[in-house]
Amino acid sequence: MITVRFHKPDGTLDKEIEAKPGSRLLDVAWAAKQPLEGACEGVMACSTCHVIVDKADFEKLPRASDEEEDLLDLASHATRTSRLACQIILDEKLESLSVRIPGGTKNWLYG
Ligand code: FES
Repeated sequence: MITVRFHKPDGTLDKEIEAKPGSRLLDVAWAAKQPLEGACEGVMACSTCHVIVDKADFEKLPRASDEEEDLLDLASHATRTSRLACQIILDEKLESLSVRIPGGTKNWLYG
């Protein structure tokens, strides 16, 4: 299992859950009741699944595709370690992954 930690926009830990390797981060976030809209459900037509990945964990993820990079340009509060949760598959080599939910109008609880 992989430990996934979701942090609020202010950096405080909101929820820590165990996820199966091979899970998509967006599905894990929904199961954990995180405020990620994911409007297009992963077909790369929105940026409402934007998360900010912990720096050390970001380096362990496969590089984002050009299409993902283009969509991230449209995301609110994007940073250098921003990713789309629908594009992150939890690899068993990760052990853990920490992400922060950005503030902004697309994330309804923290808008
Ligand atoms: S859910 Fe739309 S791009 Fe991820």
